[in-house]
Amino acid sequence: MIMMGVVIAYLLGSIPTAVWYGRIFHGIDVRQHGSGNAGATNSLRTFGRKAGIIVLIIDFLKGFLAVLAASFLFPDTTRYLPMLMGLAAVIGHLYPVFAQFRGGKGVATALGVIAASFPMTVIICMVVFFIIVFLTRYVSLGSMIGALAFPVQIALNVWQVNPNRDPYYIAFAAALFLILVFTHRHNIQRLMKGTENKFGTKK
Ligand code: G3P
Repeated sequence: MIMMGVVIAYLLGSIPTAVWYGRIFHGIDVRQHGSGNAGATNSLRTFGRKAGIIVLIIDFLKGFLAVLAASFLFPDTTRYLPMLMGLAAVIGHLYPVFAQFRGGKGVATALGVIAASFPMTVIICMVVFFIIVFLTRYVSLGSMIGALAFPVQIALNVWQVNPNRDPYYIAFAAALFLILVFTHRHNIQRLMKGTENKFGTKK
């Protein structure tokens, strides 16, 4: 059951929204443009606002539906399965079997996973994201610090969603944050060099 759920979630996450959108509507591979990332931010940068919104929504839904599918398809298995399936969807987004294993950075899909797992925490994550982007215009920095707000809230049990301070919940939230730091490693280098792309400017 657990293995089947993880595979289903991985395949769902593997749907390469930005890549397919670019190929279908513009005849190009978004990974050869802008930051080279197959995500919503680079779709916005490369194709415009409509593309950014569509990719954002579909990538969000991949994470959201993967978590919901756990309780729907396998109601009698471990209560940790939704989180495992959420992580599998994010991994699918990063390394999609349908797009040569070169996907995005996982922000929108992780957002969907958080929204479905711990609905209240996602609000703070998004507020943090918007404040950082508003102040710095760095989407990557906003994504990472917004993601950090997730394990912090779970560890502090801000919303009383972590009964008995279950270490598994904290590990899940920390893993999601660390995955996003890893996928933003090149952004971090650019941020340190002062060459990171700012929101609203073409690269
Ligand atoms: O959606 C990922 C975002 O945090 C950074 O994207 O294209 O600027 O590397 P990008």
